[in-house]
Amino acid sequence: MGGGFYISKFVGVVGIVFGAGAVATVIALAVVYSQEVAKNEAVSPTNGGSTIKPPVTTPGGSTVKPQITTPVIPTTAPSNEPWDKYRLPDTLKPDHYNLTLWPRLTVNAQDLYIFTGKSYVVFQCVKETDLILIHSNKLNYTKWGDDHLAKLSALGSTPAPTIKKSWLQPTTQFLVLELNGKLAVGESYQLDTVFVGELADDLGGFYRSVYTEEGEEKVVATTQMQPTDARKAFPCFDEPAMKAIFHITLLHPPMTKCCIMILIKTSYCPVWRTSFDKTKKMSTYLLAFIVSDYDYINSTNDNLNVQIRIYARKKAIADGQGEYALSKTGPILKFFEKYYNATYPLPKSDQIALPDFNAGAMENWGLITYRETALLYDPKMSSNSNKERIATIIAHELAHMWFGNLVTLRWWNDLWLNEGFASYVEYLGANEAEPDWNIKDLIVLGDVHRVFAVDALASSHPLSSREEDIQKPEQISELFDAISYSKGASVLRMLSDFLSEEVFSTGLSVCTVYYHIINIILSNTVLQVAVNSTGTSLPTGQTVHSIMNRWVLQMGFPVVTINTTTGLINQQHFLLDPSTAGSVPPSDFKYEWIVPIRWMKTGVVQQQTWLEDKTAHKPDMIVTGNNWILANLNVSGYYRVNYDNTNWERLLGVLSSHHESIPVINRAQLVDDAFNLARAKYINTTLALRTTKYLRSEREYMPWESALDNLDFFYLMFDRSEIYGIMQTYLKYQIEPLFKHFGNITGNWTEVPTGHMDQYNQANAIRVACSTGMEECQTLTKGWYSQWMKDSANNPIHPNLRTTVYCSAIAAGGAAEWEFGWDQFKAATIAIEADKLRSALACTKQPWLLNKYLEYTLDANKIRKQDATSTIVYIASNVVGQSLAWDFMRDRWNYIFTQYGGGSFSFSNLINGVTKRFSTEFELKQLKQFQADNSEVGFGSGTLAVSQSIERTTANIKWVAENKDSVQTWFTTEVPKE
Ligand code: BES
Ligand code: ZN
Repeated sequence: MGGGFYISKFVGVVGIVFGAGAVATVIALAVVYSQEVAKNEAVSPTNGGSTIKPPVTTPGGSTVKPQITTPVIPTTAPSNEPWDKYRLPDTLKPDHYNLTLWPRLTVNAQDLYIFTGKSYVVFQCVKETDLILIHSNKLNYTKWGDDHLAKLSALGSTPAPTIKKSWLQPTTQFLVLELNGKLAVGESYQLDTVFVGELADDLGGFYRSVYTEEGEEKVVATTQMQPTDARKAFPCFDEPAMKAIFHITLLHPPMTKCCIMILIKTSYCPVWRTSFDKTKKMSTYLLAFIVSDYDYINSTNDNLNVQIRIYARKKAIADGQGEYALSKTGPILKFFEKYYNATYPLPKSDQIALPDFNAGAMENWGLITYRETALLYDPKMSSNSNKERIATIIAHELAHMWFGNLVTLRWWNDLWLNEGFASYVEYLGANEAEPDWNIKDLIVLGDVHRVFAVDALASSHPLSSREEDIQKPEQISELFDAISYSKGASVLRMLSDFLSEEVFSTGLSVCTVYYHIINIILSNTVLQVAVNSTGTSLPTGQTVHSIMNRWVLQMGFPVVTINTTTGLINQQHFLLDPSTAGSVPPSDFKYEWIVPIRWMKTGVVQQQTWLEDKTAHKPDMIVTGNNWILANLNVSGYYRVNYDNTNWERLLGVLSSHHESIPVINRAQLVDDAFNLARAKYINTTLALRTTKYLRSEREYMPWESALDNLDFFYLMFDRSEIYGIMQTYLKYQIEPLFKHFGNITGNWTEVPTGHMDQYNQANAIRVACSTGMEECQTLTKGWYSQWMKDSANNPIHPNLRTTVYCSAIAAGGAAEWEFGWDQFKAATIAIEADKLRSALACTKQPWLLNKYLEYTLDANKIRKQDATSTIVYIASNVVGQSLAWDFMRDRWNYIFTQYGGGSFSFSNLINGVTKRFSTEFELKQLKQFQADNSEVGFGSGTLAVSQSIERTTANIKWVAENKDSVQTWFTTEVPKE
């Protein structure tokens, strides 16, 4: 194959056998395409008078053979040449692109899906140079008459220098043109290219997604550019600040639909051709174009001048699965217009559900792409959790339409602002869509608690990175992590809380309207101006900037300890394993923060205060008698709280006697803080366990979920040891009243609880009751499942309960239950149903079924590539599947890594997920061996996850050694005696 045409490994096998033929086919296609190009020349803009012509058919009918380009693969160590660096030089600035792409939706004789393209970019020279670097990855160029990979023309009066040398630089993903003379500053030039790429199933760039409808296999050609895959679709200056205008044309079969950012203009036969209005000036990573035979539904919101459409498979649209998303998009857009005080920047908002999609959703400007589970809803099939995800993910992506898209980050090191902000305001947008859900509270479980676990490790990192540290595509991908998303969201929520939402959003709207580069916190003063004009109180001498620097520039977060007998409070960097303090990198701020403290005394809310130094004396916080202090109300601050022992005892007393005097979010906080403080040795593990005792009288979801999340760690550590049995007995006892409660309020499981959170807690009650062996529960779930097995057309299980009921029934059952689940998985007509089964199939206790299932994960005909890593993690979460999944991952790492994309962000989930139970020296040794064995292949975006896993395992080993006995004793004394 000459290395020139990059193809996926799987196709590669076919490619080697038919190698010569494939080249011929590609050449043939290139010829067909160049003929097309030649025809199109007549309608393209002038090429600046250049005499170089693209390859064309000679008058005699034979073709001038276009040569398939071969990238030069460097054999020596990278030099210091500009093309060996990853960043573009600052010499050229794109103005607009004119791009025609023709995806082939059927395979050619060699089993390849390809696309051909023709593009030109007009750019300006802003610094004198004799070098053009433009991103290009896995594209194969047709040479021009002068034997070069591109054609350069001047648009001004001075002719363009000729090209000296042109080649591809695969490592840094550049098309390089060395010129014989200099480009002139201020002059504009046009660069033309003709190219071919593979329309692979690799979920990146211009790729294909496949599904079956009415027995027919259908192909969608679609895109995922963020962060660095636009260069895989066409040559472009692929950095976020290199904004330009795009004129896009797609060639496609008749009767298919195309969409991109702006509206369709024309179509005609024989090869249909759809041209779109030019885009706004925008970043390459936000482009999207799709060819499919989808249907859509649309609406225009009354007081919003925007055309809203939901696109999906014909059957999904016919079944009404787009209706929920359609009904919520208008209100959410309207909400954000108000929030940002700026109108939606485009005339239309398209959202499309794709069967194959790597992330959850992507905020392409005006054409948001989703995996099907994140957009399509069916009340008969979807759970309340599915519905919540749809509402929040729509809100998240719509929030990006302003923050991220209209106002764009300069470079990826600022990604946290983009994603953190969207991850915060998604809760506000979703709250608008579903005001009865109290959804804003859930950020505490979904983001704050989630990221505390990662940010308490010595291997964590600050929110902001230095520009020079983020260069390679995999370094960029690695930034899409819990720190950027969840810490970003938590810290911005804290900022919004101490400024007030009004001041925060006013600051933002100024920022949006004036098109400032978003760097709200670190360099501009927009928020400070808003603060000054509203008289918001900050600690004396501090500014928004000085406060936020502490949270943004240094990793981690503090634990604030309040001594209620002395009124002394202090802060310390919270490390899950205090012995790792030595390996924490130095910080300019010495790991001290400026901490806003909202608090209450014996149930009465007090005036907010600040902790500005390492220690402070707060006489107001001294309490006696039965009084108690509770700090970090609503967990609006990004920190944990510890107290003197007396206050802890009083808080435990309140929990057990009248827990309602503590706000529900803080009940969840007390449990989470206690468990984590215990892990970091601030308090005894038994004190943490005692926070779960009152749960027999707790009916609310948040404290229960917090407790179950934390007890999950105990299960991970002990479910292979003798403590398991006694833990099960304790938890079964604790869950009993909750299980009974839901049985009672649902007319013996025949109705659905009204509250959103209650619906979650009902599922929790069943999950825990069944998994701890409560017979009544198991009879119930087994009964439902076997009823379904008898009459598969009538599933009696409510969607809210399906994940847990399927799991429980498959765990209790054998091959028949599993095979039935697998058949239903294959037959599912909505992805959310398939996903529920996909997770439940990992619950079987039969190792042979688990091994078979593991094999399925790497067969894209059985488990879609987008779902492979999460399925492996599901299997690893099952105590029986743990070691099977680990062996499988180690054994296939090379294959997984190369086939499933080095840049894919799910690698960190895979590595963290498969190793989360690790707690022995032997496992640590294996993990280190795994790291060493694969040092050459690498871990891509999972690199950090490997070191996090090593750190976590080390801490787990110590924790088990130190706590095993006391944990066993505590559970033994707590379980009710028969
Ligand atoms: N921009 C991201 C999608 C993305 C993630 C692209 C990683 C490339 C790499 C999008 O805005 C996003 O954040 N999606 C989230 C959903 C959200 C609700 C947290 C996702 O895909 O999970
Ligand atoms: Zn996002």
